Amino acid sequence: MADVPWWRRAVIYQVYVRSLADSDGDGIGDLPGVRAHLAYIADLGVDAVWLTPFYPSPQADAGYDVSDHRDVDPTFGTLADFDALVADAHRLGLRVIVDIVPNHTSSEHPWFRAALAGGPGSAARARYIFREGRDGGERPPNDWPSVFGGSAWERVPDGQWYLHLFAPEQPDLDWTNEEVRAEFDSILRFWLDRGVDGFRIDVAHGLAKDPGLPDLPAGFSVAGAAAAGHPHWDRDDVHAVFRRWRRITDSYRRDVAFVGEAWVETPVQLARYVRPDELHTAFNFEFLLAPWDGPSLRRAIDASIEALAAVGAPATWVLSNHDVVRHVTRYGGGEEGVRRARAAALLLLALPGGAYVYQGEELGLPQVTDLPDEVLQDPTFVRTGGAERGRDGCRVPLPWSGDEPPFGFGPPGSTPWLPQPAGWDRLTAERQASDPDSMLSLYRRALRLRRGVEDEPFEWMDADGADVGVLAFRRGPGFTCVVNVGDGMVDRPAAVGSAAPVLLASDPLADDGRIPGSTAVWYGVPPTARA
Ligand code: NOJ
Repeated sequence: MADVPWWRRAVIYQVYVRSLADSDGDGIGDLPGVRAHLAYIADLGVDAVWLTPFYPSPQADAGYDVSDHRDVDPTFGTLADFDALVADAHRLGLRVIVDIVPNHTSSEHPWFRAALAGGPGSAARARYIFREGRDGGERPPNDWPSVFGGSAWERVPDGQWYLHLFAPEQPDLDWTNEEVRAEFDSILRFWLDRGVDGFRIDVAHGLAKDPGLPDLPAGFSVAGAAAAGHPHWDRDDVHAVFRRWRRITDSYRRDVAFVGEAWVETPVQLARYVRPDELHTAFNFEFLLAPWDGPSLRRAIDASIEALAAVGAPATWVLSNHDVVRHVTRYGGGEEGVRRARAAALLLLALPGGAYVYQGEELGLPQVTDLPDEVLQDPTFVRTGGAERGRDGCRVPLPWSGDEPPFGFGPPGSTPWLPQPAGWDRLTAERQASDPDSMLSLYRRALRLRRGVEDEPFEWMDADGADVGVLAFRRGPGFTCVVNVGDGMVDRPAAVGSAAPVLLASDPLADDGRIPGSTAVWYGVPPTARA
């Protein structure tokens, strides 16, 4: 199956650059730090890395406020560091995906400065969404709230207002403006010419706005998924942008892939982003959002596979990222959360299509829920007046080694940008590497075994008599995955066959082969034996 494009079944490791590894001791992770850990990432057994934004940025939203799309912020390194990272990654067999942020720029971007200086009616202002206010200019042009809290409009000294769906430091671009479209064509080419293998598209569902900028209709919200008819999420016009971008990547005649971040309500809506002439893949948040129960997970899996197959796109699976509560904690936390996360990992990696691993999930890191107010940096915290604590708890720097902070994240004595819990000495990569029962060892084994089945067809199995809390499916004739999502012990499903050996289990099985609660098992003939 050598002709299957890599992105149809790739496992992609999300590198949240500021929290992976800090090479220079300023407390913030950087590209040389990532480079120094590429061997670890390759050794995990993944196919690619996705680097979150490392571009010049005032960091009002941790780099998703880009002030120069063609360079590296000095905090993270230099373009030469980036080139060296790509070269090393490629040598190690890892592809590199970079993050493109097209919905907005930083308010420090030269374009936005020019827009402020140019004044109302200027061509510079037309690249953004500036309008007069209501009630003689005193009130914002409409009632849209920002995703981060407060109004989505900010007034400038000459009286006009500009739209920012996120922080005020992230003014929205106007994608009906050809200058904007041409600029992003050129940005894509810049990184393609530097050798990247793909792009993650930030807020892919947000680029097109209802030109009338109407108030938010009753029943619509700004957070969460986009309902049909929303004035700024998931509008039809957005697809023309992605068709245009696909023509660019296709012109490179190498296997480049897009992954869209589109928070939409249903897999059917999501599938429209991955039609054959648009993006290659998109994150499947349906699965991430499903609670830990059999019917919900099965519904999410079925709906995703069905909707994506209808347009010929592969499914993708993701459990955590830098915007959501880490899944150990989402699944209940503590020992039970870890058990479920271990089982979820085997489910994630046995499903057909691509998968995402968010840095630290292979170490079983929980959400850090007790960060003190004064260290919180997510704009959500301030903009909601503290009502939402924000996303910092899933962004705490990784523990690599040693017994005390910074746990090898940075040089000894350095202070990570968010404090690491003292108890993370038990979760360091160094400690887990030598423990065959650790989360890290589980991911390593699973990622190796997965290679033998990644192109095999998916088919649900009858888990005979077992309750709806058991998910069981085949990948080809030689491999089955059984997940006991419930709490009680269940029998090994007869459909697995008595001859199939256990390849891997997320936690020990009973002596008679029964499967304890929150446990996943892979049965089958080891791939090498079948080859
Ligand atoms: C989605 C990114 O993942 C998130 O971190 C960011 O705050 C918003 N887009 C705005 O760019």
